[in-house]
Amino acid sequence: MPTTRQALLALLCEQPGQDISGQALADRLGVSRAAVHKAAAALQKQGYAIQAVSGRGYRLTAESDCLTREELELLWPHRPCRVLPQVDSTNREMRRMILEGASHGTLVVAGAQTEGRGRAGRVFVSPPGGVYLSLLLCPQPDAPGDVTAVTAAAAVAAARAVETLCGRQLRIKWVNDLYWQGRKVGGILTEGLLDMESGRPSHVVVGIGLNLRTPAGLLADAPEAGSLFPDGAAPCGRARLAAAIAGELLRWDGSPAWWEEYRARSLVLGHWLTVTEPTGHTYTALAQAIDDEGRLVVQLPGGGVRALRSGEVRTRPAPRPGESF
Ligand code: BTN
Repeated sequence: MPTTRQALLALLCEQPGQDISGQALADRLGVSRAAVHKAAAALQKQGYAIQAVSGRGYRLTAESDCLTREELELLWPHRPCRVLPQVDSTNREMRRMILEGASHGTLVVAGAQTEGRGRAGRVFVSPPGGVYLSLLLCPQPDAPGDVTAVTAAAAVAAARAVETLCGRQLRIKWVNDLYWQGRKVGGILTEGLLDMESGRPSHVVVGIGLNLRTPAGLLADAPEAGSLFPDGAAPCGRARLAAAIAGELLRWDGSPAWWEEYRARSLVLGHWLTVTEPTGHTYTALAQAIDDEGRLVVQLPGGGVRALRSGEVRTRPAPRPGESF
């Protein structure tokens, strides 16, 4: 049962930037106008930019983005969630929550991370302005896919949600990087806890970071990094975006259609690449396909073909005639 404050926030969020009369809000919430006034004042105190103008009513300014538990609970009503203004890492927080008994579909969202982590032990710079979330999946023993498939599904889920809510089309750089206009605006780190008896993951923590309104200056130490709305003018808030991404991912069913969408959004297919394998071996190759196990199939200039499970790739111009590799 939502509180009056949550229910008021939900109504105002339906029509951001528009005045709604105190009486209309009171009628819809089934409370007195005084109760609406009290709830609006409490939301204002929390940081929501709610304007109350006598004779016109209440309005949530279009830019309002406070990332509160109230808001996330409204958007993530059927499963547990936690909101933190700042945390070391949402993936780590989720691991702590697993020890406390967290269940499938638990969502953690943070406004900033002090020790955000990326793949291969890298740091994921996580200043305020981004959205940082971890979703817990507890796969059934017969569930489809492995960690690579979940990561790919998460990339598709993030791209879908950003397209729907922000109107921007993300591209996916194999395996887990999210790009917009040639810059990395997000990434995914999937971590699993193994069930020792079955050898399958009992808990999968999917961590997703997106630079939503992160000012460019805060990303300066990462030359390829970018932000979707560095001027702050994002059309949707972090809680809504986080819930939409997580909601899309919970719908993942392991079907081939997800791989189709992953390929359609790929930044690398059909391009020449510099490939660095985990061993450090680096070479030039043409990205031919991504198979249903998430392997990147590349063709070597000399004619051989390799199917990569992991590694780093960078797009590069086609090799010139006579160029050595
Ligand atoms: C990468 O680009 O290599 C992956 C970055 C993953 C970042 C997200 S932000 C939420 C979650 N918590 C973390 O510490 N990392 C992931």
